[in-house]
Amino acid sequence: MASSIAVCRLHMRGRGSLGKCLQRVETFLHRNIGTNVVAAQGETHRKDEADEKDGRRSLCAVQAERQEQAERSVLISCASEKRLLKYLSTHGNINKYFFYESYGTHAVVEFANRESVASLLEEAAIPVVSNEAMVPFKSRLLSLRKSASLNSPNQKLCKPQITIPINQLIQRLSTEESIDRQVTSLTEAYQLTEENIRLRFLVCSLLKDIAAAYFPECTIKPFGSSVNGFGKLGCDLDMILDLDGISGRKGTPPKGGMSLEYQLKRANSERAVTQSILSVIGECVDQFAPGCVGVQKILNARCPLLRFAHQPSGFQCDLTANNRVAIKSTELLYLYGELDPRVRFLVFTVRCWARVHGITSSIPGAWITNFSLTVMVLFFLQRRSPPIIPTLDHLKDLAGPADKSVIEGNDCTFVSDFSKIQLQSNTETLEQLLCEFFEFYASFAFSKMSINIRKGKEQNKPEVAPLHIQNPFETSLNISKNVNASQLDRFVALCQESSWLLQLSETKTPRGRTEGNPAVPWGLAALLLPTQVAGVTRRKKRKLEPSSLRLKSLLESLKTS
Ligand code: GTP
Ligand code: MG
Repeated sequence: MASSIAVCRLHMRGRGSLGKCLQRVETFLHRNIGTNVVAAQGETHRKDEADEKDGRRSLCAVQAERQEQAERSVLISCASEKRLLKYLSTHGNINKYFFYESYGTHAVVEFANRESVASLLEEAAIPVVSNEAMVPFKSRLLSLRKSASLNSPNQKLCKPQITIPINQLIQRLSTEESIDRQVTSLTEAYQLTEENIRLRFLVCSLLKDIAAAYFPECTIKPFGSSVNGFGKLGCDLDMILDLDGISGRKGTPPKGGMSLEYQLKRANSERAVTQSILSVIGECVDQFAPGCVGVQKILNARCPLLRFAHQPSGFQCDLTANNRVAIKSTELLYLYGELDPRVRFLVFTVRCWARVHGITSSIPGAWITNFSLTVMVLFFLQRRSPPIIPTLDHLKDLAGPADKSVIEGNDCTFVSDFSKIQLQSNTETLEQLLCEFFEFYASFAFSKMSINIRKGKEQNKPEVAPLHIQNPFETSLNISKNVNASQLDRFVALCQESSWLLQLSETKTPRGRTEGNPAVPWGLAALLLPTQVAGVTRRKKRKLEPSSLRLKSLLESLKTS
């Protein structure tokens, strides 16, 4: 498979330093797939060639391959690497494996064949623990018990599943020689790793085994930032229980004037069906699923969901059902992220910047969400001259018959074949784009205008919410309805502050370092300093101060940091 980074480089030809940076950043999701893998016996990866016309593959094709890999995988709590692999390989060839820490050492092991998993499970015993009763639910989450004489695996072998602390990131960025490099370096440090993506698909596959007790033909797919290309290590795992394979299946044509159908229970609405399915599966996850704790049934939300923690992976999970628009949004974001590498770099940077300054939060509230923020970045990139990415209406115009998608009356059609999309030649650097992003939103007419990626142009606001971002598919909805005026003001103030900081000669160039001292934060690193928050909250007061005083206090804060 031609890697997508090769394609990205084609687009980036002539973009100098950014092109060099790109060589160091591998493209999300596709990394290493189909390479380094011991040839699987009998079961090879199925690739849909139509999905791969110009080297890039649709999200559906990537997901199908990942799901198939996950079904050949097991998750094992274990102690000794050598012994584990020796033991497991008696059941068949191992394609890939890695270790990580979460409530003890775990290994994800992908076999070449499904039969190996079956053979392994055949050998596993139901543990007997004195004074404790166990639910005898068998799954691919296992423990390999060690005898006292075996050593633990070398900790260095464990792959980290969380990001480096922000202070370390700031230090790392401070040593980079350009803002472009800082942006790519931040993305490298924060993006989901190959291992973390595998673990996400494996958790979906383990949950599917539970849901399959009721719906044997269902699938559980990840969506949102786990797969849209913008996920940061540690982000939640959004999943959807997909029953379309069951409901969408047509029976055989009538024979002798007769056709056979299932008798089904009736419900009041689609929503009621979703609620009852999630309620029953929630009960099952809560009572039977090993490793799943803190199950909450949030069934009265606009989009009913189950929320729980999956301890062996460390993921916070949200499971929804019948949420096809969210899948389409995920595919759209993925497509935009694959069109031009600057999209992902900018989204990662803006998301990280917003998080350190409390513009976004993991707790629901009046904050701007990562999804809204991503749409704001996409809109900004559509507004460049020439635009870096096309409008959603243009992507709809390019769609073929197979792309047609109408969900609950909403037209969600857009092209999936990358080779049909012609990009315009915009050569702006990441540094320029970052500065311009802050300027753009520092002066955006939020009080009157709505952000609209379908048209790629601001539109008059149809309602009085402080921030109006049109939902790309359910166009009568505002995805940032929750945001209140004070949160929007904070965002605008931070954009002004950040834009100003990037223009200051003191912060826009590398500061160098003196012997034995850490590098002084500059450029993007300076923008991520938490002292900025205080800077914004004190903004009104500081407006009255002469600019020399402002500058002096800023430099002081940089020195002390
Ligand atoms: P993080 O989890 O914060 O890393 O980002 P995320 O993109 O996964 O966001 P979140 O978990 O909040 O939502 C998951 C997905 O649901 C998003 O990627 C969108 O596809 C979809 N989504 C989230 N919020 C909205 C919304 O307000 N409207 C619509 N239509 N879709 C949404
Ligand atoms: Mg999410």
